[in-house]
Amino acid sequence: MVIYFQYMAKGKAKAKSKPSPKASRRVATSGDIEVSTYLEIAKEISGEQPAAAKEAVPSGEREAIIVIDFGSQYSLLIARRVRECQVYCELVSADTPWEKIAPLNPKGFILSGGPGSVYQDNAPMTPAYIYESRLPVLGICYGMQVITHQMGGQVAPGAKREYGHALLHLGGVESPLFTNVPQSTPVWMSHGDKIEAMPPDFNVLAYTDNSPFAAIGNDKNIFGLQFHPEVVHTPEGKTILKNFVYRICGCQGNWTMGNFITDSLAKIQQEVGKGKVISALSGGVDSAVVSTVIHRAIGDQITCIFVNHGMLRREEVERTFNTFRLNMGMNIVYVDASERFLERLKGVTDPETKRKIIGEEFINVFEDEAKKIGKVDFLAQGTLYPDVIESASSGSTAAAKIKSHHNVGGLPSRMTLKLLEPLRYLFKDEVRQVGLELGLPEEMVWRQPFPGPGLSIRIIGEVTKEKLEILRAADWVVMNEIKKAKLYRQLWQSFAILTDVHSVGVMGDYRTYGYLVAVRAVTSDDAMTADWSRLPYDVLARISNRIVNEVPEVNRVVYDITSKPPSTIEWE
Ligand code: XMP
Repeated sequence: MVIYFQYMAKGKAKAKSKPSPKASRRVATSGDIEVSTYLEIAKEISGEQPAAAKEAVPSGEREAIIVIDFGSQYSLLIARRVRECQVYCELVSADTPWEKIAPLNPKGFILSGGPGSVYQDNAPMTPAYIYESRLPVLGICYGMQVITHQMGGQVAPGAKREYGHALLHLGGVESPLFTNVPQSTPVWMSHGDKIEAMPPDFNVLAYTDNSPFAAIGNDKNIFGLQFHPEVVHTPEGKTILKNFVYRICGCQGNWTMGNFITDSLAKIQQEVGKGKVISALSGGVDSAVVSTVIHRAIGDQITCIFVNHGMLRREEVERTFNTFRLNMGMNIVYVDASERFLERLKGVTDPETKRKIIGEEFINVFEDEAKKIGKVDFLAQGTLYPDVIESASSGSTAAAKIKSHHNVGGLPSRMTLKLLEPLRYLFKDEVRQVGLELGLPEEMVWRQPFPGPGLSIRIIGEVTKEKLEILRAADWVVMNEIKKAKLYRQLWQSFAILTDVHSVGVMGDYRTYGYLVAVRAVTSDDAMTADWSRLPYDVLARISNRIVNEVPEVNRVVYDITSKPPSTIEWE
């Protein structure tokens, strides 16, 4: 085991380029986004795109369900639900050729919803090979309308959009698709067009008050659902999807994280050979899991570079370092570059400039350290499946996306490294499972997302050493009380913000003029939207009391009760 401690000298380089005011302000949302963010920023310096996707599904008894993405905001959710049934699932666009799908050994297809209308020009259609394959097909919403349109039924614009809850009643022909589903069950509808006439040889399987054809099917295992089984508002949706993949497609269910790890180890060994890998460790979930899985595969051929930019939370450096050095026995180069970052942030108040400076400086430090390691062949990156999908679909016709992620970034071309991305087919919850199976501590695996620029974007205005200490102390109280109240995992994020507002207070016989600290706690699924958490009053009271008592510079605490949108989760 090799451990380096390095203390960087004060740097005085200036930001290379002035950020344009229109430059995208918000980046990635999946859990540990730090490293990807830096790479995204690096791409702006001069970049090259990551290598094309490599296979990651378990070989052996391979089986997959393929979701054809017609652009619904729920498409990725369908894939996630299928994976929750322990069946591997991939999302592809409607123009994907059969040659790309065949190696996955598809057992069935799901056609997603989408914003289009089947009778519009250029409306995306199901590729012919799907019907020719004679494999089961499940069309959801727009997917159902496509089936209807292509197979000789009739789709027409609905008088009004049907959106929200409906009660589904099983009726007509009995189908294994609805095994174990109650006779009447709530479903979530969201559609404009509706089916006027089913294609020949199709039967009604279920209906609602507004939709006589809420579920249809034929004896060739082609089904259509007018509602969305993938969303939580359809409580029996998972049963329906499970029925489809097991009872209709005949899947075995071999997609487990244990299998994934076994398979990944072999793939990483094969890909890396005797090469050397570096990774940027941040303490976040994705970089932790990616580094650990690679370490498990190739041992000391991986070196992790842990850059402390000085904007981390209290005890974060020690905890991360100890986990990886003591528990996992990994090679870590720890770089305390906090002075260098602080120096560059002097006088900077604009949030985007802060991000930019930290991103650039991170890349500089990382590169310097990488050079010292000698010849390196690969850079490990914690890219996840949602990032891959977002990058692949942006600009495609199916990209009527609400979200825009940016975290599959490029590398500066001067760093001629290949990307190693063993998690690029995993969802966040799968990454967490992999982390647990690899023996990472729960505390690390269930860590709330923390932004790459760290505390710098939670200090309004200029970042100084003193303000960082104040914020760390306040943040520590928030975290501590949230954990004590056992709310940590339910919340997407919970943290303190140091505002630049001062207000008058009174302590004993003295008037004070102290900082205003804000507390933010939100629930969210993906950070694209978020709701402020209705924290119990007694938890809020304890947080407030403790902050004003334990952090002398602060004399007032407020709770942020805005949702996203219109606010963002972070304050800067
Ligand atoms: P907002 O504030 O846009 O945040 O609602 C959404 C999610 O992204 C995180 N975030 C960032 N993460 N670099 C990051 O790595 C950033 O510059 C950044 N800004 C916001 C934020 O913590 C939340 O999870």
